[in-house]
Amino acid sequence: MDTTQLAMFFHLIGFGLLATMNVSGWLLNAQYRKAADYKSKLIVLSSARAIGLLSPLAIGIVLLTGIANMMVRGLGFTTEVWLEIKVILFLIAATNGVLFAIRSKKRGGLVAQLAQGSAPGGSEATLASMDRLASVFNIVQSVLLISILILTVWKPGRF
Ligand code: HEM
Repeated sequence: MDTTQLAMFFHLIGFGLLATMNVSGWLLNAQYRKAADYKSKLIVLSSARAIGLLSPLAIGIVLLTGIANMMVRGLGFTTEVWLEIKVILFLIAATNGVLFAIRSKKRGGLVAQLAQGSAPGGSEATLASMDRLASVFNIVQSVLLISILILTVWKPGRF
């Protein structure tokens, strides 16, 4: 395998990790919503957290191998429109993921308090809004990921 092939190999591994995380997000969110009590919800959230811990690795792999893909092809950030939009969408998705991870930690803490019966008043309403946000997050990340994929396959603005 030469450098170009190696960069693409790991780029696709990174993409596979991101896609897996996105699909797991949908499945685990459905399990979380179906869970009958807070203790069961907490178990689902701990699985989601284990998967979420992979995200810095996946983001790092995709970004570094993406830059490697650009270097071996002699592409700059502004050389081709599709790549420019793709990188911007990727950075939005990565930032959104980091912000969601912070909110998820707070949500886990709240569900733990509710499971122990030590949560302050109004926690259920706070949790309901955090849960809504988690569903919106899954939709946004899926739309971003699919848009990135469409741009990559279609490559509008390739000269
Ligand atoms: C979620 C994020 C990303 C996904 C899903 C993704 C997906 C892909 C896929 C499937 C290919 C293969 C396309 C082909 O061979 O025609 C590819 C190629 C490529 N990617 Fe990404 N990528 C992502 C992020 C990035 C980033 C952040 C960069 C740049 C920093 C980047 C730069 C490139 C380049 C330059 C190519 C080679 C395109 C070519 O000229 O054939 N990618 N990407």
